[in-house]
Amino acid sequence: MDETVLLVGGGGREHAVGRALADSDATLYACAGNRNPGIARLAEGFETLDTTNPTAVRSYAEDVDATIAVIGPEAPLQAGVADALDDAGVYAFGPQEAQARIETDKAFQRRFMQEHDIPGCPDFETFEDMDAACAYIDEYDGDLVVKPAGLTGGKGVRVMGEQVTAEEAKEYIRTSEYERIVLEERLIGEEFTIQAFVANGQLRVTPAVQDHKRAYEGDEGPNTGGMGAYSDASLELPFMSEAEYSEAVDVLRATVNSLEGYKGILYGQFMLTTDGIKVVEFNARFGDPEAMNTLPVLNTDLLDVLVAAREDESLPKLSFSPRATVCKYAVPDGYPTDPKAGAKVTIDDNDVAQVADEHGNGDALLYYASVDERDDGIYTTTSRSFAVVGVAETITDAEAIADAAIREAGEEGLRVRHDIGKPDIVQQRIDHMAELRGE
Ligand code: AMP
Ligand code: GLY
Repeated sequence: MDETVLLVGGGGREHAVGRALADSDATLYACAGNRNPGIARLAEGFETLDTTNPTAVRSYAEDVDATIAVIGPEAPLQAGVADALDDAGVYAFGPQEAQARIETDKAFQRRFMQEHDIPGCPDFETFEDMDAACAYIDEYDGDLVVKPAGLTGGKGVRVMGEQVTAEEAKEYIRTSEYERIVLEERLIGEEFTIQAFVANGQLRVTPAVQDHKRAYEGDEGPNTGGMGAYSDASLELPFMSEAEYSEAVDVLRATVNSLEGYKGILYGQFMLTTDGIKVVEFNARFGDPEAMNTLPVLNTDLLDVLVAAREDESLPKLSFSPRATVCKYAVPDGYPTDPKAGAKVTIDDNDVAQVADEHGNGDALLYYASVDERDDGIYTTTSRSFAVVGVAETITDAEAIADAAIREAGEEGLRVRHDIGKPDIVQQRIDHMAELRGE
């Protein structure tokens, strides 16, 4: 049967999903709040609409006779877009609102882990009374992390001992007007992500990725949605063992076993600590940027996975090219606190392909994110603009390609974390874990 897939969302992550589907035998339509030029070129049709409006998404899905939908971002999941599509007979690869709470409600997420004995849950308490939360900080022996229970685009968390003092944490709680928060034990170690395709109680995992959330080089500055990420040619990352990768997969499996009716991507953000694998959070979707690391090395046809999920069949075993990836985002100057929009984006697919040719030992891919396509060109908005991914045999080669490619875009109005994936930064992660382990 011919499949018509509706892709919901217009960021770099969705451009990566769109490219994977364009390689499949699917007819692609897309909708997003912004007109992503990369996705628009791949799709038969592209509708600009509010993707958190379930009626609008459903009506477009019906107009284009979609048979499957892939929902990229978390906001539509929270708004019940998967529920609306499923009700209309369009299989949504993305959890319904109730299951998406594993991401959208961090208090629910921690209680869920506790109730179902999911391994890797840090010490935590949830609060609606902010005075009680402040008293807890005063009494707790050690550093805590303040987490608003709801979605904040990755920007609401404050880590004591790293970003804020106990006094500043209390001030943050008192002034920020969150209705519910989680206070949890600060975890020390190295962070990594594993994303799994989930349907019919099954899961299929993908290589570990390490994102870089801080805005500036050297992991300084405010948290962002993610400035770039790398993955290795194997499933694990250079600072972790195969057994540690498996331990994280066991956490994902235990979670899927307890999450009735979950479908879509389950994204585990983990901390590798000297006390084993701990869960920083779960997301109910692909990571952005992590999807741009994972999908280019996925050899299995993405459409086959989606169709098997819908048909209640066993999900295909996934195969990945044994290649490393490095993804670097270009963001507008001032991002994330005071972003300046309106810079012209001149880089295109040919530019990055040429850089890869010159290097001769890998590929380069360009993904557009929150840019705005006008009659006279492509312009930055106030969110992340575009990303370049290098794919090669080693992280070092992939980094060299990604960095050379993103330099093609010029620096005007844009900022890049050039350090992501560089050998000395990767070595620092390895040394950090060795030091924590007392090696
Ligand atoms: P989140 O919004 O939950 O992804 O958190 C943003 C970032 O805060 C994470 O990527 C971590 O770097 C940090 N973080 C969250 N929870 C913890 C924790 N329990 N211990 C240490 N760092 C944390
Ligand atoms: N890169 C982190 C996220 O997608 O939430």
